[in-house]
Parts: sequence; C-alpha cells; structure tokens
Amino acid sequence: MTTHHSQIIDHHEGDEDLCNLSKNSHLNQVIERRMSRRHLLKGALSSAMLGFISPAFATTERPAFSAQRLGFEAVKISSADQVIVPKGYQVQTLIPFDSPLPHPTEKNLKIGSHHDGMHFYPIHQGHNEGLLVLNHEYVEPRFMHPHYHGLTLSANAIKLNQQGLRPLNEVKAEMAAHGVSVVHIKRNAQGEWQTVEDKLNRRIDATTTMFISGPVRAHDLVKTAFSPEGTSARGTLNNCAHGVTPWGTYLTCEENWAGYFYNPGAQPREQSRYGVRKEKSSRYAWEKTDSHDSIFTRFHCEAFADSAEHDYRNEPNTFGWVVEIDPFNPESTPIKRTALGRFAHEGVVFQKPQAGQPIVCYMGDDARFEYLYKYVSDAPFQPGESGGELLDQGTLYAARFHDNGKGEWLALTFGQGLLTPAHGFHSQAEVLVNTRLAADRVGATKMDRPEWGAVHPQNGEVYFTLTNNHRRTEEQTDQANPRAQNRWGHIIRWRESAKHALEFDWDIFLLAGDEQDSAFANQPLDQTNKFNSPDGLWFDLEGRLWIQTDMSESVLNQGDWAQFGNNQMLVCDPLSQTIKRFLVGPVGQEISGITSTPDGKTLFVNVQHPGATTRAEDYAKGEFTSHWPQGQGTPRSATLVISKRDQGIIGT
Ligand code: FEO
Ligand code: CA
Ligand code: CA
Ligand code: CA
Repeated sequence: MTTHHSQIIDHHEGDEDLCNLSKNSHLNQVIERRMSRRHLLKGALSSAMLGFISPAFATTERPAFSAQRLGFEAVKISSADQVIVPKGYQVQTLIPFDSPLPHPTEKNLKIGSHHDGMHFYPIHQGHNEGLLVLNHEYVEPRFMHPHYHGLTLSANAIKLNQQGLRPLNEVKAEMAAHGVSVVHIKRNAQGEWQTVEDKLNRRIDATTTMFISGPVRAHDLVKTAFSPEGTSARGTLNNCAHGVTPWGTYLTCEENWAGYFYNPGAQPREQSRYGVRKEKSSRYAWEKTDSHDSIFTRFHCEAFADSAEHDYRNEPNTFGWVVEIDPFNPESTPIKRTALGRFAHEGVVFQKPQAGQPIVCYMGDDARFEYLYKYVSDAPFQPGESGGELLDQGTLYAARFHDNGKGEWLALTFGQGLLTPAHGFHSQAEVLVNTRLAADRVGATKMDRPEWGAVHPQNGEVYFTLTNNHRRTEEQTDQANPRAQNRWGHIIRWRESAKHALEFDWDIFLLAGDEQDSAFANQPLDQTNKFNSPDGLWFDLEGRLWIQTDMSESVLNQGDWAQFGNNQMLVCDPLSQTIKRFLVGPVGQEISGITSTPDGKTLFVNVQHPGATTRAEDYAKGEFTSHWPQGQGTPRSATLVISKRDQGIIGT
C-alpha cells in the first residue's frame, strides 16, 4: 500500500485543550485561605474539609440493607490484558462494538463504539430482562478501517486520500458508530445474557434528527440551512455520561463536541470559548468528505452565505446540550433540552424527586478550569404527570466554593448581575448558548475537570469527581482544588443547606493518588485501593459508591502512573469509610458506565477504548497493546456483565 500521496492528520488526544481564558479570579486570589495547602495535604482534611458528616449521621441514617458491605477480597493492581474481578464473582462480555443489534425490520443495526454512560431499564419489573441504554462517546478510526493497517497512525490520527479528502464510507461508518444504543437484553436459562430481537432496539447517531427545546428553541443562534426556524438539528456527538429523569427517560450528554467542528476564520465567542478547531481540520475531518451533502459539510462552520439560514455557521450551537430520549418509544424524536446549558457535558444526576417540589439536578463541564452546575425546575414535580417540560423552564446555576467550607449557587439568569445587554447578553437564549461565558461573569469557581456526579440515595449528598488538572499552578490552588499540577484528581462532596437552597456545605471526600500523596478518611490509600483520575461515579441502592478511573492513554503504564496498572473500578462505603478495588480492566482502556438490575445482583460496566495505548510504529506492524475482548485482532469496546456466583448482591 502506498501512502506517499495520502495525508495523515494527527490531532492530540480526545480531551479538549484549555478553553477558559477568562480573567475570572481563582478563589485564592480573593479569599484568604483558612488553611495552608500543606496543612490540608498532611491530613487536616479531617476536621475542616473532611468534616461535615457527623458520626451520628453514620449510625442514625444507616439503612437496613445487606449486613455485609465490601465483604470481598480486594483485586490486585494488574497490567494484564484481561478483566479481573474478585473471587466469587463471574464476568461475561456483551455487545462489543460493531456486533449486530437485532431488529425485526432494520437488518443492519450495529452496536456503536466507545461505550460510556449507561442505564438498565427493567422490562416487566424484572431482574432478568430489560433495555440497556448506553452512550458511544467517540471512535478510533484506525481500529475501524482495515486498509489503515501498515500506516503509522496514532490514536487520533485520520487519513486523507490523494485529493485531501476522507472516503465517504469511512465517514459514514464513524458517524454511525457515535450516539446511543437501546438494546433489549435477557438472561437465558444458563444464566447468560443475550440480545433479543425487538423493535425497541434502536441506534441514535451523529445524523439522527432531533428537536431543540427550551429557551434557545427558534433563537437566531440555532438557525441553520437544515432548520431555518431553529427548531431542529441533526445528530448527537461525543456522548459521555448520562442521566435518568424522575419520569424514566434517558439523558445523553454531549461532551467534547467542539473538536468535531472546524472554522479557520474569525470565530464568534460561542465557538472560540468552546474550542472549535482552527487548524487543518476537525478531529475526524468529516467536513473533508468526498460529498457536498450538508450532513458532512456542516462541520466546517464558517459563515459562507448571506445569512445563517443558508449555511452552517450556527451548527456548533446545536451541540453541547443534554438530549432526552424515551427508550420505550422507538418512534420518538430525541430532544435537546437547552435550559440545562451548553458546555462539555459529562453527565446529569438528580436529587430524589419530591412530589410538589421542583426537580433538582447537577452537571459537570469536563475541561480544565471549568465549572459545576445545578438546575432547578420552575414547576413542581407531580408523579405520573410531569415529564420533559420540567427541563425546559427553570434556573441554571454555577457553583462557587468558598474556602470556609461553604458554597453558593450563582444564577445564570438573563437580566441579573452582569448578564445584561451592557455586558453582551440580550436574552436567556444567549446566556445559555454561552453558558461558560455567563459562568465566567458571575464568578464561578474553576474546577479540576468535573466528570461524573452521584447523589447518595439515602441522604441526598452530592459527590463529584474532579479527574485531574496538570495545568493548575500553585497560585491557582484553592481549598476546593487544593493541589498544584493535580495529577491524581479528587472527589468533592456537598450537602444543600436546608435553610437556604442557594447555599451548600462542602468538603473534599477523597484525594486520589499513591501511598504518599492521597487521603481518604485521614489515611493515605494503600495497595488495595490506590488509584487516580476518578471519572465514573455511581451509588448503588445500598449507598455504596462505585468509582471508575480514566488515566489518559498518554500516561497509562508510564512513569509514576505505571504503579496503578490498568484503569480500574473501586467501591467505597462512606459509612464505614472503607474502599476496595473491585475490578481491573484490560490494557489501554478506561472503565466507564455502570448500572445494575433493580435487585443489585447483576452489574453492567463498560470497557472503553482497549488498546488505545498502541503506539503508531507498533500499529504499522499490526501489533496492538490489547486484543480484548476477542483475544485476537483489533480491540473493541464492550459491556461487562458481572454477577456473584452465589447469586448475592454485588459488592457485599
Ligand atoms: Fe467523556 Fe469527561 O469523559
Ligand atoms: Ca468520562
Ligand atoms: Ca477518556
Ligand atoms: Ca475522563
């Protein structure tokens, strides 16, 4: 195969680069610190920052669940190309990338790639049958297109043909591998889970038509040649984590969508603040496809025509949202819920809904120095009646963490404070399209890459992972982001103030890292539980906190990171303050996505991008760091099904 005339574009890895260039002060520049950083890291998390859970809390609110909590033996760190679970557990692999999704009439449905956020919806209230709904975050072209073999391609490189274009078939396959899968699964008599042919099985991808709802609907900023009225859009991209609404629909969250767009010209603020690409091409160069169909050309988002209704200058404004999907209605059109803001959405987690009260949910913007958000609906929740309209009218807030353990929610409401025409905002729609800029203006706290959140099922405490941030300098540290060059990440926690819904109390629940540089319950982590770069986070019904790691493939098994082995999953019991490693995944992947059957006896976990550590020169020789799950050939993302051999509850 000759490669002399083809061109390879190699972008940096999937995490987007720094976008927050606002002069918004870092907290420690304006607030005198209550404690020195040194004090904090030496274990003083105890009284002040790790303090608000009183001992009484642990005894009075302990639910009467399984007597045994974390009764299993911790799994050891591993660098093997296999999935390791504790003794007494078994694991099955399900729905790898590109496997058939059986449907009675649509015969070519396939499972997407890069499995991420996921939820199990029981069918017939059962524990043995349901719809598994999961996100497909992105793709790795070199593992999809066989003729790439022999080329020196790194994980995010794409190949252009002699005309400097991408072949149509490749781009179509990549767009189809994005989005969301709805998969009917069932456990057979032998205890194995299988896909079931069903008309509910569905693929939503980068081309699916969606409605735009909420304050941004029909605004000038979302008018395109596809939808001159600004009421619909095509596709969902980089679907990372997810949410489940109080009325049972699925929310999929658009994370690093900005890199899918290319504009070498003058970028408006709603592109530049999010990191739309300026150089060479978008991440996958879909805009360079050998076709004039706007389904591809829209990714080049310069203003070409006389008005926004005749080009795709606004196409990026139709991404960066939370999208609602009804998995039990295959004919339903997904809805982009704009009231929840536009940023690099990781996921959405809800407080337990209360009849007659507004719904409350929390979201993170996963980029360095971005923010944590809360949304509160205007209307109250009425069980059996309320639905997605609660996501269309409400107040979006950004979080400010004060160094004294108090925090406040800052409303991103047009007309309040600096969110006025004098400061460049003319409507709530403009505030929402430019959510990051609005949060800059109100003075939210710049965080170390917010990833997943989880709400404690019994006490409503909110936990969020802050995965890492090597760019934070000593001067930029504050109590909520206390480490300079935060390589290991941490988990923050807050509890809403009962007396004032716009205030909260917070602490740092855990500082991840090695035996020297970590802290949990006044102790450093040890061989049984050390980890870094927390990402996925989930509470099971008994209040065990599951933590999934995502050490980037650029550091995995290298330098200081080698001591942590492959990416892993741990489980933590906040009541007894114990934490144990439960699972280690194969080579080059991250663990992402977790859900269970309602009885807690079957756990579904995703393995994303195995083999992503494959170096370009090894790829050229046909060698991969992982052959998981097939044991040969190209590695594939897939779902794990985990159960206890004694049929017990997982984690006991
Ligand atoms: Fe898609 Fe922030 O992980
Ligand atoms: Ca993630
Ligand atoms: Ca990742
Ligand atoms: Ca991550």
